[in-house]
Amino acid sequence: MRVGIVLSVALLAAFVQVLWAAPLTSQFASFPFCECDPIGAYKLKEHIIFKGNGTYCFTIKVDVPVNCTSFCCRQADLRKLEFNVNQVCDAPGVVLAATLNGAPTAINPNVEIAQQGPSGAAILKITQLGLNLSNADGAELCVTLGTNRAGKGCTTLADLCVPPAGAPPGVCTAALFSSNTDCCPTSVVNPPPPPPPPPPPPPCFTCVNISLSVVTTPFPFSFPQTLCNQYAAAVAAKFTTAAAAVGASITVPFNLTTCNSDLVSVCGAFASEADSQLLADAADDIATDFLNLVTGRFGTCPPYLDGQNVLVSITGTAESRSCFDVIKSISCSRANVSFPKCICDTKPGATPYAALPFYTTQPGRLKTTTQYCFKFTSIPTIDGACENATIFSKVEFWGNEALRRNIRGFVIKPNGATNYTVISASWGAKGDETVKATPLNWSINQATGSEICMDLDTSISLDDFCLGPFTNGCYLTIFDPTRKCCPMFAILDRP
Ligand SMILES: *[C@@H]1O[C@H](CO)[C@@H](O)[C@H](O)[C@H]1NC(C)=O
Ligand SMILES: *[C@@H]1O[C@H](CO)[C@@H](O)[C@H](O)[C@H]1NC(C)=O
Ligand SMILES: *[C@@H]1O[C@H](CO)[C@@H](O)[C@H](O)[C@H]1NC(C)=O
Ligand SMILES: *[C@@H]1O[C@H](CO)[C@@H](O)[C@H](O)[C@H]1NC(C)=O
Ligand SMILES: *[C@@H]1O[C@H](CO)[C@@H](O)[C@H](O)[C@H]1NC(C)=O
Ligand SMILES: *[C@@H]1O[C@H](CO)[C@@H](O)[C@H](O)[C@H]1NC(C)=O
Ligand SMILES: *[C@@H]1O[C@H](CO)[C@@H](O)[C@H](O)[C@H]1NC(C)=O
Ligand SMILES: *[C@@H]1O[C@H](CO)[C@@H](O)[C@H](O)[C@H]1NC(C)=O
Ligand SMILES: *[C@@H]1O[C@H](CO)[C@@H](O)[C@H](O)[C@H]1NC(C)=O
Repeated sequence: MRVGIVLSVALLAAFVQVLWAAPLTSQFASFPFCECDPIGAYKLKEHIIFKGNGTYCFTIKVDVPVNCTSFCCRQADLRKLEFNVNQVCDAPGVVLAATLNGAPTAINPNVEIAQQGPSGAAILKITQLGLNLSNADGAELCVTLGTNRAGKGCTTLADLCVPPAGAPPGVCTAALFSSNTDCCPTSVVNPPPPPPPPPPPPPCFTCVNISLSVVTTPFPFSFPQTLCNQYAAAVAAKFTTAAAAVGASITVPFNLTTCNSDLVSVCGAFASEADSQLLADAADDIATDFLNLVTGRFGTCPPYLDGQNVLVSITGTAESRSCFDVIKSISCSRANVSFPKCICDTKPGATPYAALPFYTTQPGRLKTTTQYCFKFTSIPTIDGACENATIFSKVEFWGNEALRRNIRGFVIKPNGATNYTVISASWGAKGDETVKATPLNWSINQATGSEICMDLDTSISLDDFCLGPFTNGCYLTIFDPTRKCCPMFAILDRP
């Protein structure tokens, strides 16, 4: 009975207080906007856990202050949590939800005006938790924030909470109330640390491989360092401009990584697969450009690639995934030309002799001449009627008869000789356009590493003197004494 009276009196008092307080201005200037004991047994762990989808979780701790013997420390239960929130979050029809240890709470959370707070004060209330000293410790309380149908409401802690003075947005203050509301210890909880930035996407490591494979030639070309360097510079420049044009980022500059006889590799990296994909539309053209590097200024295969395939691959991988993959190839065969004028076996490899692919120049014997020097070597023969033709008898060049007076002879040096020997240039029948370095009568040993230089008036260019489709290129044939064997080579200036 007495208890009943006390209770009714208390209720009445509370009722009166509410009746009178509501229209009045604030009675309590600061959170939790009521009179209650701030020392108690419950608190929230300092860190909030974000679960995605507007869901934030708090861990409750039972933590009785040392030597505290009050009701709030020793007996009080934990019935409800209130957060100090912004009034704008008090939008009608906002959908909020909460779970306690994974189970929905008995009553959905609610945002409301703080009746006894100053104007503009609002709270988020989660009640009927049913926790006490024996089961509260470690309990996980999750709140899912949401909006109403009009999209109004607060969906992040930064929007929701009024941070304590001086604290950044996202920091929340909560009061943990006992059923009799006498106890209201507060906790300040920090928003979860921002998620670590996603790891940067893996770079797209890309190599341009320019490779040669032999189809028929017994004398395969071998990439000299100068060409490797040229290709590497051109590849780097092309990628730089192509990437700039589409906004792709190159993180490892393209650079020569391999320069073998039959393989040039130029490697670098795009920032990511996405960057390399920006070049997808241009990839075909880029690969064609690289192939053109090899075929070069001629727009077709240079003679030293006859009988070989040129393959250009652009291959990229980003963590073992392909991020670039283009292949272009060309198969090179000898151009048909009207040289030599006689019928003989012009296949390289018919006899064991070959001319190196590039000529060199040096001062002539006269002040008014320049020497263009062709070097020879020995190679394996291919089967055929000429396979045993081992005498290097003479060399004939496809030359311009109109300039016959501008060649001042040949200087020759077989392997083993210390000095050049001068021999005169002899021309074939009128109309043959053929100038001969003869007689030579060299053995394999003498021919391997030998040199034959044309001594030409500096007033004319080699391009004027030598005939044939290649600018600054000279055709020559190496004859055996029978004149039936005459492997032919087209020699260019060094790239
Ligand atoms: C977020 O909500 C969507 C739709 O309700 C659901 O498909 C998704 O799985 C939720 N994500 C998380 C992390 O809970
Ligand atoms: C708690 O009480 C003990 C004994 O009365 C006293 O020695 C101790 O200093 C108190 N500790 C605190 C933190 O007040
Ligand atoms: C705490 O609440 C549980 C469940 O309601 C109850 O079984 C338990 O007896 C309570 N413990 C105390 C100390 O009140
Ligand atoms: C390219 O490679 C060469 C030798 O391999 C090296 O000297 C040079 O520094 C590299 N350049 C770049 C830009 O990495
Ligand atoms: C390109 O050449 C490199 C060697 O420099 C090699 O490791 C790589 O496998 C080659 N790529 C292709 C596609 O052949
Ligand atoms: C050269 O001529 C031969 C026959 O005369 C022909 O079969 C071959 O295709 C020609 N080659 C080129 C590259 O034109
Ligand atoms: C070349 O010489 C080898 C060995 O003497 C002989 O077997 C072969 O028949 C010769 N070839 C020709 C085309 O005469
Ligand atoms: C080679 O030339 C040098 C100087 O020009 C000369 O002294 C020498 O006798 C010559 N040797 C031969 C074998 O002709
Ligand atoms: C060619 O050289 C060989 C050996 O060196 C010699 O026996 C032969 O007489 C020479 N032939 C000519 C035509 O000079």
